[in-house]
Amino acid sequence: MEKQLKSHGAWIGKWTFILAATGSAVGLGNIWGFPYKAGTNGGGAFVLIYLLCIIIIGVPIMISEIIIGRRAGNSPINAMKKTAIDSNSSHLWKLVGWSGITAGILILSFYSVIAGICLNYIFISATSSEILSSSEQFGAVIESPLNLIFWHTVFMLLTFLIVSAGVKNGIGRMVKILMPMLGFLLIFMVTYAMFNGAFVKALNFLFAPDFSNVTSETFLSAMGQAFFSLSLGMGSIMAYGAYMPKDQKVVPTSFTVASLDTLVAMLAGLAIFPIIFAFNLEPNSGPGLVFVSMLSAFNQMQFGQLIGPVFFVLLSIAALSSSISLLEPGVAYLSEEGYLSRKNSAFAISFFAWLLGLGTALSFNVLSDFNLTPDRNFLDSMDFIANQILLPLGGMMIAIFVGWFVKKDLIINEIGYVNPVIYNLWRFFIKFIAPTSVALIFISQVL
Ligand code: PFF
Repeated sequence: MEKQLKSHGAWIGKWTFILAATGSAVGLGNIWGFPYKAGTNGGGAFVLIYLLCIIIIGVPIMISEIIIGRRAGNSPINAMKKTAIDSNSSHLWKLVGWSGITAGILILSFYSVIAGICLNYIFISATSSEILSSSEQFGAVIESPLNLIFWHTVFMLLTFLIVSAGVKNGIGRMVKILMPMLGFLLIFMVTYAMFNGAFVKALNFLFAPDFSNVTSETFLSAMGQAFFSLSLGMGSIMAYGAYMPKDQKVVPTSFTVASLDTLVAMLAGLAIFPIIFAFNLEPNSGPGLVFVSMLSAFNQMQFGQLIGPVFFVLLSIAALSSSISLLEPGVAYLSEEGYLSRKNSAFAISFFAWLLGLGTALSFNVLSDFNLTPDRNFLDSMDFIANQILLPLGGMMIAIFVGWFVKKDLIINEIGYVNPVIYNLWRFFIKFIAPTSVALIFISQVL
């Protein structure tokens, strides 16, 4: 007898899924990752390649994840298993769900530490320091294990509280509050930057195409960014797809989410770089861009003690709407199997991720010399295993599964009527282009 899995409920109306999936996609990766990579990889040339990757790899895989998730109405592990069995394939495809859930927990562990620093900066940027420079300030923040662990705990607690409140009353309700706030704060920051920063210089830096800098590395970097930015390969979108109403159209919805994610990434660049240029700061300073360069700008500008906190609230909201999607797939699995209640599942997984996160918090200070994998400290090892191995591998397997193994009528049933040209393009991308491209990123990153 087939075991009866517990139901999680569904979202009402099509906007909840769009807000939740966009919330998952828009995160720390967009706000500093995209602008920084675009700026240093040929500006508009990178943006064009990135858009191409979103269309030929990102959207096709997103459509596939939603199809599998919504059809089953379950967590990625059971959704993969059900779809495989219904297509007369091996139930072992569920391992893709397991790899996704593992990746989600690993990412959550360090995402929470970094997001905790964002929370901490809401307060730091509200009071200008006369004694410390912004880089000394950043040094002081990451040198203190207790400080990092405190903010990591606060952030993980917020994530836990939202997910444990359920699909409708927790995640669904929160994204309806968080996402409009995020949109509003972002528009405020861009408008501020437009009038008070070096806007034209930023436009040039981000969008003037410079093809002389484009190498195969640029393609790989754009592909990796597209993948991570859309939260693909680890089951977040699949888990959210399970709560999507049956009458919502999968293909147009995927385009909407991908467009919103891309729009936010570009607006983030237009909020950050005008300010960076206006204060003659380094545009390509990597992780320090938001914590060191932006803080230094806020310390120097008029009303910086107000604008700074607004910026870090924006970052924290983006991080929170992503972290709940990292926790949800595992929680959905434990609770639907009936092993634990939703609350206890959320507690167990977030506690485990919190424990793992201690390794990341300590890798900034007392454990900075400790390498978990060769030449990589704890944080870099987590990032490497999750983002560079598990996510691309998961994405590639999902593309192969839907492209080659899932029964055609089952797919047609789920996506409903789609323009035949679009459908055939999608089939072609998911069968051939997406798996080979992801395999390329994967091989190049591992080598
Ligand atoms: N998409 C998020 C970002 O751009 O920051 C990160 C992320 C969230 C990746 C959720 C994967 C995921 F499942």
